[in-house]
Amino acid sequence: MPVQTIPSESLGSPNNEQIRTWCSRLEAGEVLYFAQTPVPIPPDDLTFLLSQQQTSSSLHKNIAYKPDRDKLSGVDEKSAKPAEVVRMHEVMRRYSKSIETFLSGFLAPYERRWRLDYASFRPLEEKGRDLPVRRRNDLLHTDAFPTRPTRGWRILRFFHNIHPSRTRDWVIGEPFGRVVGSFTPGKLSIPRSDSPVVRAGKQVAQATGLATLVPQWKRGPYDEFMMRLHNTMKEDSVFQESCVREEVQFAPGSSWMVYTETVPHAVLGGQFALEQTFLVDPAAMVTRESAPIAILEKMAGAKLG
Ligand code: SIN
Ligand code: FE
Repeated sequence: MPVQTIPSESLGSPNNEQIRTWCSRLEAGEVLYFAQTPVPIPPDDLTFLLSQQQTSSSLHKNIAYKPDRDKLSGVDEKSAKPAEVVRMHEVMRRYSKSIETFLSGFLAPYERRWRLDYASFRPLEEKGRDLPVRRRNDLLHTDAFPTRPTRGWRILRFFHNIHPSRTRDWVIGEPFGRVVGSFTPGKLSIPRSDSPVVRAGKQVAQATGLATLVPQWKRGPYDEFMMRLHNTMKEDSVFQESCVREEVQFAPGSSWMVYTETVPHAVLGGQFALEQTFLVDPAAMVTRESAPIAILEKMAGAKLG
């Protein structure tokens, strides 16, 4: 089963062994699902978020909150009312903090060996969005960041469907360890480790800011492979039509978390979701060998970080 439901009774008195089992299932590519979110949004914040679509044309896009800089982006500062921007900032700050607090307890085996990445508010209807292929989220893909390499750190995402009545509809594929073999060798090769000269060149590009112009210069072999896998999956119509998959509907008011660099996923419909991303140290894993970097290094017989 790709989706493991966490019973709400087990949240109060988490048992170490049970939590380690959930962590290892999560790490291997299952979705941990909470039929009712364990991190409820304050009612006023929820009302505010759900009102965005109707009352403001400026707060429509994905809104991102960057906790390390306490910065909000994606809001059109020119047409949004200043008070709304301030309110959105507060709501996102609170949301980000509440998820970090919850997961610090729930994912205790990780001992916070993560970097708190962006949080996002996704107010758009997902069905029928008109986007270029590589940006489409209705095609199965594993996540990779084009401009922010993770160097093997894992991408853990915690979602909340805040729509009052509609499900958020996903499709989930077989995890990295099982699908990677249908892309490499053949359609994709695992890049060779950078030579000392290339590595030195990339370091200069990063130090001088040149790497922002050419995102590849920011990437080592691991991130280069993960980016190519993301693109190749989306562009491969045979994979899209014939891979093993399961449809999942996340109930209104539910939450779920998943390693999205491991589990191919696509969103087919739904509106209004919140999400918080964590970059988790692969050395913190309960089952280290299920991390994509460990799988690829084994396949390549070389270090890729
Ligand atoms: C994605 O990460 O591909 C989209 C997931 C979602 O917004 O439900
Ligand atoms: Fe994704």
